[in-house]
Amino acid sequence: MPSEDEHARIDRYLLELHGPDPYSDVYSASETHREAHGADCEVYPSNPLKARLLGTLVRTAASRRILEIGGGLGYSALWLANGAGTAASVETIDRFPEHVALIEEYAQRFGLSDRVNAIEGEGDEVLRQLQGRYDFIHDDGWFGKEPSYLDRMIELLRPGGTLAISNWFLIEQSIVPEPDKDWSRFAGPDWRQTIRAYAETLASRSDLDVSFIPRPWLALAVRKP
Ligand SMILES: C[S@@+](CC[C@H](N)C(=O)[O-])C[C@H]1O[C@@H](n2cnc3c(N)ncnc32)[C@H](O)[C@@H]1O
Ligand SMILES: [Zn+2]
Repeated sequence: MPSEDEHARIDRYLLELHGPDPYSDVYSASETHREAHGADCEVYPSNPLKARLLGTLVRTAASRRILEIGGGLGYSALWLANGAGTAASVETIDRFPEHVALIEEYAQRFGLSDRVNAIEGEGDEVLRQLQGRYDFIHDDGWFGKEPSYLDRMIELLRPGGTLAISNWFLIEQSIVPEPDKDWSRFAGPDWRQTIRAYAETLASRSDLDVSFIPRPWLALAVRKP
């Protein structure tokens, strides 16, 4: 098994094949922002390999109407908007007004403001108000346990549409003998059980066809017609 260092070297090699990351400033700004914003801030930008993959996925599926829960500062939303092309729209939800303002600022800076719409609010509430169906949904808002908006999120996905769920690295942490951190601080005392319960729920849903991809961690599901 490659060590963490070797994994990092492999990731770096693969990323460098593509030249500079056009949105690397947003990635760095997300890291700096989190330190400054305070304890409630959960802006952990997407793994750059995964962000690139999201762009490729929406391009492959020719997704037009895209929804994201957990916008952060917009790093993954920019990759989605880039991949989906000029006819697409990306609606990305975040609970913090300062995040929404920064998403708008970055979308403007990268010439993507006509494709990216940042929505301020709680995932649950915003999802209840949204209308119509989406071709592609990226959930980067949940952590450690099934989100309360799971059913509504699937309802908003058109049959044949793709659901991409981030943050599954915690499964690996639940299996290795020595996790990197005390995850109970972030995901509750029963985090090993709750993360696995969510994986089992997704895998057993009759309306989804799900695959879990380790490194970059992503669950990919298609809503069955
Ligand atoms: C992991 S970060 C998102 C990173 C972003 N997708 C990127 O790649 O840079 C999670 C973000 O989701 C927001 N968030 C978490 N749960 C949420 C919820 N239930 N409703 C709205 N926003 C939420 C947090 O404020 C945070 O900005
Ligand atoms: Zn913040």
